[in-house]
Amino acid sequence: MRLVLLGPPGAGKGTQSARLVAKYAIPQLSTGDMLRAAVQARTPIGLEAKAIMDSGALVPDDVVVGIIGQRIKEKDAAKGFILDGFPRTVAQARALDELLDKEGLRLDAVIELSVDENALLARMEKRVAETLASGGSVRADDNPQSFKTRLEAYRTQTAPVSSYYAGKGELKQVDGMETVDAVTAAIDHALGG
Ligand code: AP5
Ligand code: MG
Repeated sequence: MRLVLLGPPGAGKGTQSARLVAKYAIPQLSTGDMLRAAVQARTPIGLEAKAIMDSGALVPDDVVVGIIGQRIKEKDAAKGFILDGFPRTVAQARALDELLDKEGLRLDAVIELSVDENALLARMEKRVAETLASGGSVRADDNPQSFKTRLEAYRTQTAPVSSYYAGKGELKQVDGMETVDAVTAAIDHALGG
């Protein structure tokens, strides 16, 4: 199973990916998580990405395409993967098509989680509260100013990715405003399960 999970910041991509990992025994490939790990480890990519991520803007396409190009060739991704937060621009979507074509692979589905913008800020705040309660460190971009920029990046750069996949007949839309369990069930249904 090769899936893309699309959706605005706070839509539930990470939450639903965790459930799909358990169900299909395939890895979650989150460019956000990989970039945060690179920032933490102060690698050259992390040093380049940190200020951009903190502001809420998108990291350059070539950086994330390079990361995903390597990652999907790793052994644990041979049977499939869930792309969480990639592709986020039409250029990234085209690059992914090329990467998959080269390997003779294709996506099984692109699932878009639709959530009202008003609910997204509340979800971000909920995650901050949960993180603090569990003694974790809050994401540097989980603040109102960066969140506004993340939403703007989604509207201008990522929303066209939905149209790109809709045009190819690969897009399945799921109502992300439902409860976590209901969203999981709707994704199962969209995948024919
Ligand atoms: P990334 O890490 O991908 O962040 P994001 O897209 O902003 O999304 P989030 O992780 O905030 O939300 P989510 O959809 O995973 O929601 P979650 O499940 O946590 O990217 C971060 C940054 O990295 C980008 O801004 C950019 O700089 C860079 N980057 C990453 N990929 C890139 C790329 N491809 N190109 C360029 N730059 C890139 O849920 C959120 C909260 O809501 C949680 O508290 C959860 O419990 C709750 N929740 C979830 N589902 C529900 C529900 N159904 N009902 C109620 N609450 C719910
Ligand atoms: Mg996430």
